[in-house]
Order: sequence, then C-alpha cells, then structure tokens
Amino acid sequence: PRDRKKIYAHCNMDELRKCIDESVGNGKKLIIVTDGVFSMRGDYAPLHEIACLAEEYDPKFEEGIMTVVDDSHGIGAYGETGRGTVEVTQEDRIDIITATLGKGLGVDGGFIVSNEKVIEYLRETSPLYVYSNPISSGIASAALKALEILDSHEGLKLLERLRENTEYFRKGINQIGFKTIEGIHPIVPILIGDAIKAKQMVFDLYQRGIYVVALTYPVVPRGQDTIRVQILASHTRHDLDYALKSFQETGKKEGILE
Ligand SMILES: Cc1ncc(COP(=O)(O)O)c(C=O)c1O
Repeated sequence: PRDRKKIYAHCNMDELRKCIDESVGNGKKLIIVTDGVFSMRGDYAPLHEIACLAEEYDPKFEEGIMTVVDDSHGIGAYGETGRGTVEVTQEDRIDIITATLGKGLGVDGGFIVSNEKVIEYLRETSPLYVYSNPISSGIASAALKALEILDSHEGLKLLERLRENTEYFRKGINQIGFKTIEGIHPIVPILIGDAIKAKQMVFDLYQRGIYVVALTYPVVPRGQDTIRVQILASHTRHDLDYALKSFQETGKKEGILE
C-alpha cells in the first residue's frame, strides 16, 4: 500500500535497513524493489547486500520478504553472458526479475522471471496480463531470435566487443578531462554540471552526427547535469575516436574543458 511505501537513498544499505526495521509489525509481507542497473547513472544495485538483508529480516514478517529487481538496463548488456546484474553480482537469491525487451534486446515488450507460484499468481491477477493484448507474434519471434543470438557464440562475441568498446570510451573520455560516474556499464554518464552547457553540447554533437542525451534537472539533482552516452557493440574504433574528438572540441567550446 502507498501509505506504507518507504524510499531509501541510492544504494544506501543503512537506510534500507532502517526502512525494513520501521516496517516490522506493519504488515504481513515486505517487498524490496530496486533497479539492477540504474538508467541515469550506469551503476548497479548491491544485490548481495540487499539479499542478505532480506534473508536476515525474513522471519520478522509473517509472509516473509520478497526481492524484486528491474534489470531493464542489465539484461542483454551486462555480465559475461548478458544475464544482467545478477550475473555481475553472482547473487541468485532474487525472487523476481523483471526487464524490458526494448533495450539490450532491441524489440518490444518485457518479461518477468520468478518461481512457478509467483508467475501463476501474476497470470491470474495482473490487469495488464489479463486485459491487454500480448505482443504480436512477429515481435515475439524477434524477441526469441534476440535471445537466441545473445545465447550463442555470436552473442558472447558481441558482449565482449561491447565491454571493450565501453572500456575504451570510458578511458578516453576520462583522459580528455571529463568526469564520469564510474562503472563498467555501456551507459556512460559524463558530468557537465550545467544544464545549458549540457544542452548546447548535445546540440553541437548532434550536428556532428553524434546522438547523445542531456540529463538535466529535474531528471537528475540540480548541478549534476550529465550527458548520457550509450556505447554499442557495433561501434568501430573510428566511431569512438570520432566521438571522443567531438566531445573534446565541444567541451572546450563550452568551457567545460581547458
Ligand atoms: C529501469 C526501467 N524499467 C523499465 C522501463 C520500461 O521499458 P519499456 O518502455 O520497454 O516498458 C524503462 C524504460 O526506460 C527503464 O528505464
């Protein structure tokens, strides 16, 4: 219920513990919900710590604690075989994983993975499942094909390429003098710290054929305006060098770099 929902600060496990503590005696069941990879930052939730807290407090709730992870930005892009944040953190105690098929897998729709009981419950009760049309068979076939590629030798190669490209771009952009939110995910947020400069840079980069997105207040806190870059496996070294050079030039023009 909305009135019993609590929100903890980004990846702050002390706050999460406090929220759980305050909820003891306030309901039969507790659900902890988090993103796997965070879309604005490219970092990821400490799933191991979250699962440990869930396990510790589980006996204090009549129906226990459930963990739900939305890994829309992790599935298909993160981890050795693209299985997302659970693969990166090696945490297998998550109860429900949900993700879109529209990011790493490039189609429409989404999915929920859980045990049989939960899936049966959702099939019987979820209004979106019961009263809406499913994705079309063409989209379902494309999704299956995307999963087949992800699970193949080609998929492993693509993921490897994605990791190499990400590392190359992250290293390059830091060497030029930009600050980034650290991480290993292909979402690379470059800190600009000024909404107008971020938007001007995005406009200039677009003129050069580079499509990136400015994240400005209120999407991010004031003063933490960023340009979000998304690296692809299909980027060539030439593409990445061209992007780095363009970032350097536009960054200088806007006075972000010296
Ligand atoms: C974390 C997260 N979950 C879910 C979604 C929704 O994906 P879709 O629009 O494909 O349903 C998004 C979309 O941006 C997202 O960032």
